[in-house]
Amino acid sequence: MVVVAQIGQTMDGRIATVTGQSKYVNGPDGLTHLHQLRALVDAIVIGVGTALADNPQLTVRLVHGKSPARVVIDPRGRLPHQSLVWQDDGIRKIWVVADGVNVDPLPQVELISLPAIDGRMDPMQILQILSAVGLRRILVEGGAETVSRFMSAGCLDRLHLIVAPIVLGSGRPSFNLIPIEHMDQAQRLPVKTHLIGNEIIFDCELQPQRSIVKPG
Ligand SMILES: NC(=O)c1ccc[n+]([C@@H]2O[C@H](COP(=O)([O-])OP(=O)(O)OC[C@H]3O[C@@H](n4cnc5c(N)ncnc54)[C@H](OP(=O)(O)O)[C@@H]3O)[C@@H](O)[C@H]2O)c1
Repeated sequence: MVVVAQIGQTMDGRIATVTGQSKYVNGPDGLTHLHQLRALVDAIVIGVGTALADNPQLTVRLVHGKSPARVVIDPRGRLPHQSLVWQDDGIRKIWVVADGVNVDPLPQVELISLPAIDGRMDPMQILQILSAVGLRRILVEGGAETVSRFMSAGCLDRLHLIVAPIVLGSGRPSFNLIPIEHMDQAQRLPVKTHLIGNEIIFDCELQPQRSIVKPG
């Protein structure tokens, strides 16, 4: 199994404005890169916060390639039927909710329920179940909370952080991780950088931090 996360952020580390608007932090080159990543995976995973804020389609449109399955992590089953991720376009769609939550999925949507502790599902269990249903190349596309939970759980192989030449000065931060007090506790990631147009991709290697062996 391979799990890549991507975040498009400003130079001051923001993924959206204070109102949650993020279309678009990245310009055409960053977006094309994102669509290339989508075309390479079996499934895109997003948190319900992104599905509600952006109402994304999560399809491959800017490059040639097949659109992957769409997976929404939504422990409380909040995502409405009319959301674009649920559109009946022949692409596989999976709704991941917490055990015991009463939802009524559309016929084209597969439902997976998992145990949750204080509303939180274990990212490793999410990956295990996705692997079991045949989805082994995964792109975690946001938002900050979802990427941070996968990262904290040691579930990411790579992170593509795409920095756009924008300063917001306020807004949603890219990560939400356990606070640290000293710089020597900071995560320092092995990284390769690439310039695409006027944006920089930090291709970060996270495999050494992986705490648990992911499903095969
Ligand atoms: N620039 C970019 O690259 C980019 C990409 C994507 C999104 N965005 C922006 O990011 C913002 C949304 O990000 P966000 O951090 O607020 O939300 P998010 O990560 O999209 O969704 C977070 C929510 O998803 C659920 N969730 C995710 N992982 C879970 C887990 N392991 N267990 C249980 N529940 C889990 C929880 O739902 P509950 O709240 O129901 O518990 C959680 O609060 C929007 O403004 C969007 O525009 C930017």
